[in-house]
Amino acid sequence: FVSAKINKKFDLIIGNPPYIRWKNLEDDLKQELSTNTIWNKYFNSLCDYLYIFILKSIELLNEKGQLIFICPEYWMNTTHSISLRNFMVSNGYFEEIYHFNETPIFDKVTVSIVIFKFVKSKQSKGKIKVAKYYANQKLTVETLTKLKFQEDFKDAEYLQVSQFKKNERWLLQSDEVREELKILENNCVKKTQNSLLNLFNEEKLEFNTIGDVCDIGNGLVNGLDKAFQVNGFLLNEHEKKATLNVVKAKDLKPFFAESVTKYIFIKDGLNETEVIEIYPNFYQHFQKYKEDLDKRYQYNRKINYWEWVFLRNFTLFSKRDKRIFVPCKERISNKNYFRFALVDKATFPTQDVTAIFKKANTKESLEYILAYLNNPIIFDWLKCNGIVKGNIVEFSEKPIASIPFRIIDWNNSNELFLHNTITETVKQYLKTKMQSDIDTINYSFNKLFEIT
Ligand SMILES: C[S@@+](CC[C@H](N)C(=O)[O-])C[C@H]1O[C@@H](n2cnc3c(N)ncnc32)[C@H](O)[C@@H]1O
Repeated sequence: FVSAKINKKFDLIIGNPPYIRWKNLEDDLKQELSTNTIWNKYFNSLCDYLYIFILKSIELLNEKGQLIFICPEYWMNTTHSISLRNFMVSNGYFEEIYHFNETPIFDKVTVSIVIFKFVKSKQSKGKIKVAKYYANQKLTVETLTKLKFQEDFKDAEYLQVSQFKKNERWLLQSDEVREELKILENNCVKKTQNSLLNLFNEEKLEFNTIGDVCDIGNGLVNGLDKAFQVNGFLLNEHEKKATLNVVKAKDLKPFFAESVTKYIFIKDGLNETEVIEIYPNFYQHFQKYKEDLDKRYQYNRKINYWEWVFLRNFTLFSKRDKRIFVPCKERISNKNYFRFALVDKATFPTQDVTAIFKKANTKESLEYILAYLNNPIIFDWLKCNGIVKGNIVEFSEKPIASIPFRIIDWNNSNELFLHNTITETVKQYLKTKMQSDIDTINYSFNKLFEIT
């Protein structure tokens, strides 16, 4: 297909084209592409074999001809497919897009799949009919039929989306969300970058990020959670000191944590006799879990059954600062908010939680950062740009670090005022839990983002 000389034009091209990243292409295919006029005009060695199938197919269509492909969705969003997207925007419009997220459609293929119908046209264009399906289950004819006729059911979402424009990423989101995200990104863009460059490539935009202002770490791993929880049994004085305060993911709410769970935490380097002597109640408690504790992953060293297996980020967590906790994973099918919560110093996260600390040179308050992360606009940003698998958003170190951050211009008295209002209102909300405080916080952010 790549080299074929095709002299006819078509009303309909339908297919399941190949998709292979350049680096995985066989040498003879690379060779073939490197002498191909279309490839050389639009693409390069950062592109995908798929792109030429889409572009050449559109060239082969008559005016009003249709291209219907089932293929991965990544090219709708990546930097190196910009020339393909701009070509499509200039040569026609989308009528329908079906987005299947993690639904396993082809055996052994794990990428998200889309089916799109593109019409080659010089005429005006209406909105795109978008259907999204979120269930991580095999597709049935029944499901497909429902999606086609936009019948409401769990795990389906329908949107009318304006036609895409040149030089933008294609987000399958409502126009309001697309507009809101543009505002957010404009607010967070680094001021120092070469603005001339950005005129030509919007995707080169660099943001101030949460990673610039915060240190982030995933929680400590014990390998068998229930064995380490202190559940009401009596403790001697040594044992009382050998515990950690932990906030579990299930106890996190937006802005605050509901309760603290005590965990056994015996320092490394003791032998069993010493443990029996100093921590007799803990020793007793561990006996019923001993077999399972010995089966824990050993991280290439011998770990005694009363010890935690992986104290990652322990130094960070030992800082004498307040911190923000967030569950490592959050299912968003049934809620439209995340749970970033402020917790006290000397409170530790376990493996189900990621902790966020203000860097020493960060001027914005931790309350401001907390409110920022809980803002609805960040929810929308993460839904579109975060690591989303099926319906679950992942909050490990990297995705949190990449969230764009709205820094405060400290020379601007209005921004200073809004920062302080947000900070004080968060403090007040943590005491009173009044909904009106949340309204004030969101109102202040809208002012800061200049959303009217
Ligand atoms: C994703 S598979 C789809 C297979 C089949 N159409 C289906 O739906 O089961 C892509 C197909 O494109 C074929 N292919 C790869 N390079 C091609 C080329 N340059 N010209 C024509 N077909 C090609 C592959 O052999 C493969 O069968």
